[in-house]
Amino acid sequence: MKDKLKNIVNEFVEAIRATKTEADVFNVKAKYLGKKSDLFTLIADLKNMSTEDKKEYGKLLNNIKKDIEEKINRRIEELNNDKKIIFDDTLPVKRTVGSLHPVTIVAKEVTDILKSMGFIVMDGVEMESDYYNFEALNIPKNHPARDIQDTYYLDNDMLLRTHTSPNQVRAMETYGAPLRVCAPGRCFRNEDLDHSHENTFFQLEGMIIDENVSIGNLIYVMEGLLKAVFKQDVSVRLRPGFFPFTEPSFELDCSCLICGGKGCPTCKGSGWIELCPCGMIHPKVLEMSNIDTKKYNGFAFGLGLTRLAMMKYKIDDIRVLNSGDIRKISEFNIE
Ligand code: DAH
Repeated sequence: MKDKLKNIVNEFVEAIRATKTEADVFNVKAKYLGKKSDLFTLIADLKNMSTEDKKEYGKLLNNIKKDIEEKINRRIEELNNDKKIIFDDTLPVKRTVGSLHPVTIVAKEVTDILKSMGFIVMDGVEMESDYYNFEALNIPKNHPARDIQDTYYLDNDMLLRTHTSPNQVRAMETYGAPLRVCAPGRCFRNEDLDHSHENTFFQLEGMIIDENVSIGNLIYVMEGLLKAVFKQDVSVRLRPGFFPFTEPSFELDCSCLICGGKGCPTCKGSGWIELCPCGMIHPKVLEMSNIDTKKYNGFAFGLGLTRLAMMKYKIDDIRVLNSGDIRKISEFNIE
């Protein structure tokens, strides 16, 4: 009897080791624990044994049964775990290639065009001091112009810059006059979000300081820049504007390329998009940064890079650009 049991156990161990699928395990289970199994017959025979044998073999058979059940369960678990890490290298692998972000593309295009006009490109900081973001741009504390540039004030007395204009000051301090500089970068404002407003957006600051700079120079540079970016003739219009750091100040609009000027949510129905506020640099700003105003004057502009990307790629909602949703971004025809 004991030899028979030993054989059953050995045979079972071999059989369970050879299983490859759950179905194999169930077959082994049926063979070694099922109603037609040797073990089942032996257990059923217990009742015909003497009380002494019943005691001895009853315990032995029960232990063997339990052991077999345990091994079966463990094997099922093992196979399930293996299933999770199976790597089928015959499956086709879909490789997708990313692209630069639309804003990165236009930033590169604009800076390339400006470089060809003799501008240098400079990098600023996103965490600015009140002095560079406001004071040195002729926006003193309590000036109403601060209201429309509410931002995120940090614990260390710094703030997230509301525009790229602080780079005007940094450039004048670093390089002096004459100067042709541009500075693309990320800006932040405490905004109510809609189709065309985001709390995080990109601008490109540009300035020329030289002798006898005129508004005609400003218009010429801006028109040339936009034509080169859109690679088509775009209508631009200049409206009077107000900025404490330019005098006179202008709003430069371009016709909305999303709706062709008919009016849509992006241009708020006007057919025009405010793209580039600009103006002649206020003498006070030049003086604060030690530029000799008897000799030099200049113009500056703050191009809305995010808006430019929206126009160029016909993106009708600014929020898509920061969403990180690749399905949306890949819908644009980025060459
Ligand atoms: N920094 C201004 C803003 O974000 C835009 C601006 C206006 C920039 C006039 C300029 C400028 O350089 O000359 O609202």
